[in-house]
Formats: sequence, structure tokens, C-alpha cells
Amino acid sequence: SVLIEYETSPEASGLQWLAPGQTAGKRHPFLYSQSQAIHARSWIPLQDTPAVRATFSARIHAPAPLRALMAARRVRDGHFHMPWPVPSYLMALAVGDLEFRPLSPRCGVWAEPAALHKAAREFADVEKMMQAAEALYGPYRWGRYDILVLPPSAPFGGMENPCLTFVTPTIIAGDGSLVSLIAHELAHSWSGNLVTNATWNDFWLNEGFTTYIERRIQEALYGRARSDMEMAVEVEELEEELRRLPEADQKLVLNLAGRDPDEGLTQVPYVKGALLLRHLEEKLGRERWDAWLRGYFDKFAFRSISTDDFLAELRRAFPQLDLTGWLYRPGLPADAPRVHYEFEGEPRAGWAAQEWLHWLRSLPERMPPEEMAALDRRWKLTETANSEIAAQWLLMAVRNRYEPAWGRLERFLAEVGRRKYVKPLYEELARTPEGLERARKIYEKARPGYHPITRAAVDALLK
Ligand code: BES
Ligand code: ZN
Repeated sequence: SVLIEYETSPEASGLQWLAPGQTAGKRHPFLYSQSQAIHARSWIPLQDTPAVRATFSARIHAPAPLRALMAARRVRDGHFHMPWPVPSYLMALAVGDLEFRPLSPRCGVWAEPAALHKAAREFADVEKMMQAAEALYGPYRWGRYDILVLPPSAPFGGMENPCLTFVTPTIIAGDGSLVSLIAHELAHSWSGNLVTNATWNDFWLNEGFTTYIERRIQEALYGRARSDMEMAVEVEELEEELRRLPEADQKLVLNLAGRDPDEGLTQVPYVKGALLLRHLEEKLGRERWDAWLRGYFDKFAFRSISTDDFLAELRRAFPQLDLTGWLYRPGLPADAPRVHYEFEGEPRAGWAAQEWLHWLRSLPERMPPEEMAALDRRWKLTETANSEIAAQWLLMAVRNRYEPAWGRLERFLAEVGRRKYVKPLYEELARTPEGLERARKIYEKARPGYHPITRAAVDALLK
């Protein structure tokens, strides 16, 4: 038995300490962790590799009225226990002025009081999602499934911390249009948290499986058309990214030797990975494929595995399959499934966010300000409450120097810390000398409010 006494530093890259002004309620400070991929080591002394798993107990002291939460079973206030072995990147902590609203006997939402009501409405379908996933892949093995709504500075959309998914409030659009992210984080309860990538080179085993299961959950709840529509938009994003990405980074099995595993965070493990599983589904037929996948989760439950383990298990059942092209070559193989969705040509009120994204991205790169203004008048894009649409529109506004949107751009960048939105916006700004100057001004004010992970990304861009 070894006792280690340790202190973290205020600069720990896995923690964000928020002043009251950066929270929804503005009255109390907030603290939260983000351990994936390799930030757990900045706040806990451990072997920070997904290949190693551990159970743990913890006692967290937080001054009243603040409440501490961990991604674990809550034994009683401030006491936590994780009876199932988890990899270090799934260890998570949050402290804030947090309240709870149940959604079902085993699901609920934690949020600051000011954000709780809207969040609970948006996530009303979670129990149904769980039942859909269980019908496909076997019982949910983590006891409770709760969701914690973080302040808007959160660097990621969602993080599948076991028993307690962390999410950005930017997915709360008011109309449920972005809840597939919850299906995604929930799906990790099987792919990722139960069966874990042994190394970050095998990241597609986590995210590709999860993106595929996310679509299956969505299909079960909302139908195939809805699920294919979102998948079609993701495939467009993948194809766009493949045009820019070096060939070495287009392979499903990555080679991150000597690099920060965060650099593997592209559409490749997510969408190319999901397409591979969809390919297997089409080739083997749903019945055989679903049965195999369920057996895969049972066999490897609470273990960390490599792509070779996956391949060996797949070949045991289907020796004829050859996935070399999918796993070890760049681009999309010739036998990649086509995801068909017939998008409507002209916008209308009532479009889902993904339809707007598809349409906005199909517009010409360069548009005169008058045309931007006409669209804006017709569809109120600058003031949209949907964060995905806002991020896409603001990108176009920067590119086309559409000045009426600049106020919103500054407010957006001052509030939201989600790296997926923030990084492309600064990148687009930095393309012109005036833009770069504006980017530096905005960033100077916004930087203290960003999480260390987002800060690192923008620092590198603007330095
Ligand atoms: N586990 C990831 C987030 C992550 C990956 C954090 C790697 C750090 C390193 C999470 O499940 C995820 O993929 N989140 C996405 C949303 C999802 C719907 C694609 C996000 O945050 O945008
Ligand atoms: Zn994920």
C-alpha cells in the first residue's frame, strides 16, 4: 500500500476554475475537469493511459453552498465510489452551484439553477434513448445516467464521463435539434467506457463505434430519414476534411507517436469509423451484425483493446472479411457506403439545424454583403439561437466582411469556449491583416474565459 500526498497547480491543463462572472448565475465560482485525452495527469498522480483501468473512492470537500459531483456513484454528499474499473481519461470532477432535476428513475440533469429548466426540457428523451441502446447492445451497466450542464466556456460539446456526461450549454437550442449529442455521449457507455481504446492510435474504436451507435439510437427514436440526414451532413464534413488532411492522418488506425493525441481529433475516427461499421452492417445484414456487436461488448466489457483485438474477434465470426483498406489506407475505400438524403433546395422555417448547415455550406464561398444582408433579413441568421447555425453563419460573415454580424461575433467569442466553433472563427479572421488585428483584440478579452485546451489551440493560431 502506497500513500501519495500531492497538490495540483492552478495551471493544471485538465481543470478550469471559473470566476462567478463566467457562470450562468454570476454569484458563485465553478470548477470542472476535462481529462481526455491526456490531462488527467495534470490533476491526479496516476498512470495516464487508457490501457490501465482502476476503481476508486473519493471524498471532495467544497464550501457550502457549492456542490461537488464526480463521474462515479454518489454515496452521499461529497462521497463518491466508482465500483467498475475505468481508464484515467474518464475521471471527472465538477464543483458549482448545482441543482438536480430527475428525468426518469435512473436519469436526471444537473445544472446551475438558472439553466436547469431549459436543460431538463431539452433532454426529455434520454430514458428512451437508453432503452433503445439497451435493446441493441445489452443492459446499461453504470447504474445512473445523469447529465451535467457546464458553463459555456466548456471546450468540447460533450464528454462521456461515466454515470455523468458533461455537456456544453450550446447544445440546448430550445427545439431538441442538437440532442443527438446526448445520444452520442450515452452511446459511449458501451463503446469507449465499457470497451476502451487501449491506445489513442485506436481512437476510432471509441469514436467510430460511438458515431455509428448514435445514429442507431437516433433511428430508433426519430426514424431512418432523420438519422441519415445527420449522417449525410457528417459525411460532407468528412469529405471536406479529407481534402485538406495529410494522407498519413486519413487512416483509421492513427500513428500519433510523438504527437499530442488531441491531434487525432478529426472526422476520420468519427465518420470514417462509423462508415466502416455501416459497411459491415450492409455486408453482413443487420441481424448478424447486431448480434456480433452485442457479443463484442459482452466479451470485452471493462477492458481496453486494440484494433488487432477487434479484428481477431471479427475474423473469428467472419473469416472472409478484409478490412486492410479501411484501417490502414488514406481516403475512403471504393466500397464505402453512400448515405443518401434528399435535401430540400430552398430554406423554410422549421428546418432542422443540420438542414441549415447543409444549405449554408452549399452557398458560394464569396458573397457580396448585399446578398448576405438579404439572407439575414429573411432568416434572421445573425440572431439565431442555434449555436451550430450561428457558428457557420459567423464564419461566412467574417469571410465576406459582413459587418452587421460583427457584434454578434464578438459576443459569441466572448461567451462560448467550444473549440470546434472558436478555432475556425479565429482561423478565418487571421486570414487578412485587419482580421488578424481584430482577432487579437477579441482574444485578449476572451482568453481568460477560455478553458486551457481552447487557449492552447488559439494561442498557437495567433502567435
Ligand atoms: N469523447 C469526445 C470528446 C473528446 C475527444 C475530448 C477527444 C477530448 C479528446 C466526445 O464524445 C465527443 O466526441 N464530443 C463531440 C460531440 C460529438 C457529438 C461528435 C464534441 O465535443 O463536439
Ligand atoms: Zn465521442
